[in-house]
Amino acid sequence: MSEQESTLTVGSFGEAPSPVVLRPIADRDEGFLRDLYASTRRAELSVVPWSPEAKRAFCDSQYTAQDLYYRATYPHARFDVVELGGARVGRLLVDLGAEEAHVLDITIAEAMRSRGLGTMLMLWVLDVARRRRVGVRLNVDLSSPAQRLYERLGFRAVAADAIRVDMRWEPWAVDEPCRPSTCAAGR
Ligand SMILES: CC(C)(COP(=O)(O)OP(=O)(O)OC[C@H]1O[C@@H](n2cnc3c(N)ncnc32)[C@H](O)[C@@H]1OP(=O)(O)O)[C@@H](O)C(=O)NCCC(=O)NCCS
Repeated sequence: MSEQESTLTVGSFGEAPSPVVLRPIADRDEGFLRDLYASTRRAELSVVPWSPEAKRAFCDSQYTAQDLYYRATYPHARFDVVELGGARVGRLLVDLGAEEAHVLDITIAEAMRSRGLGTMLMLWVLDVARRRRVGVRLNVDLSSPAQRLYERLGFRAVAADAIRVDMRWEPWAVDEPCRPSTCAAGR
């Protein structure tokens, strides 16, 4: 079985710890993933004078275009749904290449944000990268609060334009990024 086809348990999470699992995206996840994507555009679309149907159609078309682009451009990436205790709570798209790892997307469902799950998933990516001795890159909106999370984990901005910033983490430049237990509690 290839890497992108395998289901992985990343750790456990929550007060009564439940397993956090990366499971390859399946056809049955389509509705969940479209809703999840729409949740990431809600704030910016809230000021646009479109009907709810027009906003949804826009999000659906953007999701489809993004999905086609990622799958064509990163054929060896993992395209996973994140499950917590068997329930879908997000998605993680990461290309774990031989030269570097590239986090294409990480999204946690709105109801589950800011509880430490994103940190835990990113720490898993960094652990994989450290063992392979490769850097990790990602690209984030300049206005996104997610930058704080990445900076806490040791990512540094390496390039930017007016809208987006490229960030990079190097396995040899970081002493020891915080572990899930200390990171979630101590941020
Ligand atoms: C970014 C994201 C994956 C982090 O997961 P999480 O489980 O919420 O993260 P944690 O609880 O481990 O850490 C909290 C940090 O996440 C970030 N964060 C929280 N809510 C966020 C949101 N709505 N949008 C972006 N980042 C957010 C902040 O950096 C926050 O740190 P702060 O408390 O200092 O502001 C998640 O918030 C999310 O899905 N946001 C919307 C999609 C997105 O922006 N994805 C990143 C694309 S590069």
